Amino acid sequence: MFDAEKIRADFPLLDTEVYGRPLVYLDSGATAQKPACVIDTVDWLHRHLNANIHRGVHRLAEEATERYEAVRDLVREYVHAAHREEIVFTAGATASLNTVAYAWSERFLQAGDNIVVSEMEHHSNLVPWQLMAQRKGAELRMLPFDDAGRLMTGRLDGLLDRRTRMVAVTQASNTLGTRPDLKQIIDAAHAVGALVCVDGCQGIVHGGADVAALGCDFYAFSGHKLYGPTGIGVLYGRRELLDAMPPFLCGGDMVDRVSFERTTYAPLPLKFEAGTANFIAAIGMGEAIRYLQRFDAAEIGRYEEELLRYATERLLAIDGLRIYGRTPDKCAIVSFTVEGTHPYDVGMILDKLGIAVRTGQHCAEPVMTHYGVPGMCRASFAMYNTRAEVDALAAGVERAVRMLR
Ligand code: ALA
Repeated sequence: MFDAEKIRADFPLLDTEVYGRPLVYLDSGATAQKPACVIDTVDWLHRHLNANIHRGVHRLAEEATERYEAVRDLVREYVHAAHREEIVFTAGATASLNTVAYAWSERFLQAGDNIVVSEMEHHSNLVPWQLMAQRKGAELRMLPFDDAGRLMTGRLDGLLDRRTRMVAVTQASNTLGTRPDLKQIIDAAHAVGALVCVDGCQGIVHGGADVAALGCDFYAFSGHKLYGPTGIGVLYGRRELLDAMPPFLCGGDMVDRVSFERTTYAPLPLKFEAGTANFIAAIGMGEAIRYLQRFDAAEIGRYEEELLRYATERLLAIDGLRIYGRTPDKCAIVSFTVEGTHPYDVGMILDKLGIAVRTGQHCAEPVMTHYGVPGMCRASFAMYNTRAEVDALAAGVERAVRMLR
């Protein structure tokens, strides 16, 4: 049986008290807590194996390089990519998405083309596309969602045409929890010759990633939401596309030959890994993935679903509370507002009760605009959360509402 209490013991920070109360951490969508094995690995590497990768012939440098490259193999397997060169390490999902938007657009996007972006994207999978569309004279089109938070994929027929070059869409919305029907979107995009770039930040945590089964062209995620360290992310891209794209950042490690007349670039994936990679975080992320592999992913999924169902039921019982994103197969994220209160005020009172939720626009301002709200509170759940924490959240919101109304 899946035992969240036992799992909690692996996460030292969950023992923390804030304002003298036990921490109730419901902000894993922003960053997940780290199991001790990840913390220990990062600590051990700094103490025993800190040497720059790909550069030295000395023992430490070679071992650090081997461990870093082994994580590439692990990630390839974890996301079901066909080739290890298709796995690029970046500073985070934002860096991954900016790399695609810049380098791919630089090579492939032309004036008169269009890019379709879903209305529920995190800014990281919207603003880079907007910027490149402006630079190239291309059009940015929005694929809307309805009030339940369902992406209106029926509108794709009217949005996609011969000049659509890219569709940018999330695997799971960081605000609404919605999991769009990616297969349908990818098939429709490919049918007109467009590519698809998937933001997998929340999706990979709540259900995993299978780029082969999906058939997406690019896929991005970050290590810190997947129980790994900050400062590391992954960009998966189909090999022929990455090969055809120019570099994004330039410097050490991404070159083949350099002279003042001409520079040639390193083969994939190093072409996109300029500068000293965050090898310690990459190896730490590998440890996080190995930690997750100890569990049955389907069991984690069922556990999180049950937490979500319970949290939804408890919160909806509160007078005037509205949950945004009510699709049946959403992931364990609950964004809400309460009539007559401001989300910041609710968030601040919850904080004083030791309950950490995210407040604000969640880097998804178009979602706020859609609903006409200045912000939302968001509780995002992880494998280590419990029903007792859901009870604490519901009681905390009730208390905040009593104080604020
Ligand atoms: N993108 C992260 C979130 O949704 C930071 O909170």
